[in-house]
Amino acid sequence: MKTLIIYKSYHHLSTEKLAKTMAETMKAKLVKVDDAQPEMLSEYDLIGFGSGIYNYNHHKDLIKFIENMSSMDKKVFIFSTSGNFRERHHNLIKEKLNQKGCKIIDEFNCFGEFRPLGFNLDVNGPLAFIFGKNKGHPDAKDLENAREFAKSLLNE
Ligand SMILES: Cc1cc2nc3c(=O)[nH]c(=O)nc-3n(C[C@H](O)[C@H](O)[C@H](O)COP(=O)(O)O)c2cc1C
Repeated sequence: MKTLIIYKSYHHLSTEKLAKTMAETMKAKLVKVDDAQPEMLSEYDLIGFGSGIYNYNHHKDLIKFIENMSSMDKKVFIFSTSGNFRERHHNLIKEKLNQKGCKIIDEFNCFGEFRPLGFNLDVNGPLAFIFGKNKGHPDAKDLENAREFAKSLLNE
């Protein structure tokens, strides 16, 4: 199955770690959304879309890319890293992919480091929005989970 993974990661490059792990496991082509063209998609059977979660949604560049795609009857998957996991974080990207006729086969999330002021004291609760949280994530276990997730997609 020919697989393409399109991603955006900038804060601590946490989603890039997931994207690289999944691409390696699936022997997928990996492309940053800034370098991706909608015309590339036609040659792939399965396409993954991932980014960090910023203000409750996937990165706006990834959403814009999906909005600019032609309708396509393709299998897709979604992934993200975030400060907290909330199912609603994936709602917007799902809505956009559904509007394009894509079949979402699965989704994956894990924690990613959050350093609002450029440092991370790894605290919980509201103070995390100043002092940071999720130090070291994605960790080895998160990446192992990402590998298992990617393997499971190959059987879809
Ligand atoms: C500007 C900004 C907004 C964020 N908003 C959220 C949010 O709404 N919910 C959440 O759980 N995490 C939020 N986070 C934390 C990021 O989702 C987390 O750090 C993620 O791992 C970043 O991915 P990246 O390193 O691949 O860019 C935010 C981070 C930044 C920098």
